[in-house]
Amino acid sequence: MSDTDSLLCAPAGWRASRIRFVTDAARAVVALRAPELAPRTFVVLDAGAARAHPALREAAGPAAIELAGGERGKDFATLELLLRELVRRGVTRDARVVAIGGGAHCDLVGLAASLCLRGVELVLVPSTLLAMVDASVGGKTAIDLPEGKNLVGSFWPASEVLVDVGLAATPSEPEFRAGLAELAKVAIGIDAALFAACERDAAALLARDAAPLAAAVRAAVAAKLRIVTADPLERGERRLLNLGHTLGHALEARSGYAMPHGLAVAQGLHHVLGLAVELALLSSADGARCAALLDALGLPAGPLPPPAELLDFVARDKKLDAAGLTVVLPTAPGSSRLVKLSPRAFLRMA
Ligand SMILES: NC(=O)c1ccc[n+]([C@@H]2O[C@H](COP(=O)([O-])OP(=O)(O)OC[C@H]3O[C@@H](n4cnc5c(N)ncnc54)[C@H](O)[C@@H]3O)[C@@H](O)[C@H]2O)c1
Ligand SMILES: [Zn+2]
Repeated sequence: MSDTDSLLCAPAGWRASRIRFVTDAARAVVALRAPELAPRTFVVLDAGAARAHPALREAAGPAAIELAGGERGKDFATLELLLRELVRRGVTRDARVVAIGGGAHCDLVGLAASLCLRGVELVLVPSTLLAMVDASVGGKTAIDLPEGKNLVGSFWPASEVLVDVGLAATPSEPEFRAGLAELAKVAIGIDAALFAACERDAAALLARDAAPLAAAVRAAVAAKLRIVTADPLERGERRLLNLGHTLGHALEARSGYAMPHGLAVAQGLHHVLGLAVELALLSSADGARCAALLDALGLPAGPLPPPAELLDFVARDKKLDAAGLTVVLPTAPGSSRLVKLSPRAFLRMA
């Protein structure tokens, strides 16, 4: 993979993003801070990524704004702190905000960039597998409320996303598996070729082998871009990317955001596989094959809390309207469809 490898996301009438696959994120960040760009570039660094990669911290420079990172930072208090810090430092409308970090950090900084002076340019350098395959691609930003996940947000695509798969070597094992869950979501829900590759390479992916990991990340990003290019504002097909997320978001919110997003999504994927087989939308053989892939990626089904404890969270889901909850259900490895269900039916309570 060369440093010039890139993919373009340019939805009609919408802002374009370039995804660049690089082999040395620190060097790429130094280039972003070239002297002619420096006065208007504000780097916001995730402390978790900075601790694991001192070269990134050095590349970000002494003026970088460092935030703790993680889901707990996706709140109004951190958003306000960041916006005030940018304003105190003299941010102007031609500024560029560079976020280096995990998916939660990218979501938060992206929202701040979309709000600051009604919007400044955003560049993302995702530092976890999950942020590479999902959170940094497609322009969604958000913070959470105690009432539910990602309930305050905007669409604000990064002009550029720099993906260095090497950064994904350091997150903890649960964090890494959380990224594999979003990869499995794309494979199960929309990309049969990626599904076959993940089945074939599951052990190597779990071991973080660089070559299969880089190939899978690129394929997942390309698959997501195909969908986002056609439906940037999630009016139709993009909703398929919410596979596993209705239950996942409810589990996360119920845990007070202690449960990693991707691990919650993995439980959500197991749940919709079971539901799709029950509703005869998915054959039991295909359901078993998809569940086996999750198991092979270190994401076995776990015990769920009683459905009654999830109902309120599911009922506040963004995909709920008067006609019910729009749920994504798998129909075969690599394909899925939207189905309307009541929250109770979704939780198998009816
Ligand atoms: N915007 C979107 O389209 C989209 C899509 C999927 C997920 N998301 C969001 O992404 C978030 C999850 O992202 P995540 O899984 O990256 O978790 P995370 O951002 O919470 O990061 C997990 C932990 O890893 C640390 N970390 C970051 N990079 C590291 C590195 N290289 N080495 C070691 N530690 C590192 C962080 O500091 C944090 O403590 C959720 O909030 C989810 O809602 C957004
Ligand atoms: Zn997700």
